[in-house]
Amino acid sequence: MEEALKFAQQNQEKNLQELLAFLAIPSVSTKPEHKPDVKEAAEWLALEMERGGLENIRIIDNGGHPLVYADWMHAGADEPTVLIYGHYDVQPAEPFDLWLSPPFDPQIRDDYIYARGASDDKGQLYIHVKVVEAYLKTVGKLPVNVKFIVEGEEEVGGMSLETFIPENKELLAADVVLISDTAMLSPDHPAIVCGLRGNVYAFVDVTGPEHDLHSGSYGGGINNPLNAMAHIIAGLKDKEGHILIPGFYDRVRPLSDDERQIVNSVPFDEESWLKESGAPQSWGEPEYSLIERLGVRPTLDVNGLIGGYTETGRKTVLPAHVHAKISMRLVPDQDPEEIGRLFSDYIKQIAPPSVRVKVSIVGTSAPVVSEMDSPAISAVTEACVQTFDRQPVFLREGGSIPVVAQFQDTLNLETVMLGFGLPDDHIHSPNERFYLPNYYHGILTGIRFFEAYARHHAG
Ligand code: BES
Ligand code: MN
Ligand code: MN
Repeated sequence: MEEALKFAQQNQEKNLQELLAFLAIPSVSTKPEHKPDVKEAAEWLALEMERGGLENIRIIDNGGHPLVYADWMHAGADEPTVLIYGHYDVQPAEPFDLWLSPPFDPQIRDDYIYARGASDDKGQLYIHVKVVEAYLKTVGKLPVNVKFIVEGEEEVGGMSLETFIPENKELLAADVVLISDTAMLSPDHPAIVCGLRGNVYAFVDVTGPEHDLHSGSYGGGINNPLNAMAHIIAGLKDKEGHILIPGFYDRVRPLSDDERQIVNSVPFDEESWLKESGAPQSWGEPEYSLIERLGVRPTLDVNGLIGGYTETGRKTVLPAHVHAKISMRLVPDQDPEEIGRLFSDYIKQIAPPSVRVKVSIVGTSAPVVSEMDSPAISAVTEACVQTFDRQPVFLREGGSIPVVAQFQDTLNLETVMLGFGLPDDHIHSPNERFYLPNYYHGILTGIRFFEAYARHHAG
């Protein structure tokens, strides 16, 4: 292992140049015009995996953007198998004018790489390719068997991986899945994520008149879909943030005292978190602490609202149609299908008969919790302590990684989420960045994890 660590340290510059090349490919999964770029990113990754010594490389077309599979299975049948998951697709970079350097022309400033996907998730994913290379180019073998499954549709809730998993249980069989797609607490404080929220994404369309109407001739006599939408949205949550959909909280699993203690003992700096957000104050369910509201409580948010006249100047009009994008974050044991139904039924119930309303559930993912005590967790803990000289904290993350529930339920895998992002990486936002020392530390931690896991698994 020492040779692998040394190799990683000596190859920092080369590893950096490769990541810059990966980041320059605009693999925006949601936009049809970027489809060839998404494919190029998959091919680029597959080639680098091969160069790193991985075998059985496959670029798999399962309907949407390609999956990339690779493995190295020569550690021996007694050694455990680690499945590594990540995504090479990225969020759209808009609004472009707020970027200090172009999103797909990666630049380094003050130890950060600035580019779309730098932290979410290309930089974090690529760490593991470099871990494998460090072993295979020095020791010539890995202490554990390794498989990679990487997708290009994470950011759009695509179906390619979701339908691939149940049909390829043998191919993906492993002891544990290792995922780096989350954040540390701070640059010197590693974190293991032991829970993710789920997600239900809905489109709500409110239609009134057949076409836009003069607001003088019709205002007061025809219900305005924008006003109606505002009433509907106002009916979803009270002023304190409690969700008003009947049955919404029914399956929320009460937190044990232990769980609550773990969540609240995280040294979370509320003041700097708030400052970073730029909002005047924090907000939400008063009976829960801020960190509970961010990780272990469900929530509902309007992500977008389109309707009416939005150009410069004024126009007196009753718009015919309004569209809202609304999402909910779920916690165990809420069921995304059931929540989708409750949401639709409630919207239809509160919508006035003077408008027509259509609700479409466009994506769901289930919430997860994962082990906090296992040989794999002991091994990542050890690897973190060796690299950062500090015990990792356990965090319940508020974001979602849709495939994780399937890794647990369909493949029966234990999950280890060890991320190397930082809370202020601006993921999904302009000026996304990745802290370079975390990239290098991530590679060292990954090398140490493989060695520690082989040991902990055996004994
Ligand atoms: N890597 C994120 C999940 C995440 C967010 C981890 C924040 C840590 C902090 C992932 O790529 C993501 O953005 N997921 C989406 C999923 C959605 C499209 C279903 C999310 O959480 O919005
Ligand atoms: Mn991600
Ligand atoms: Mn993301």
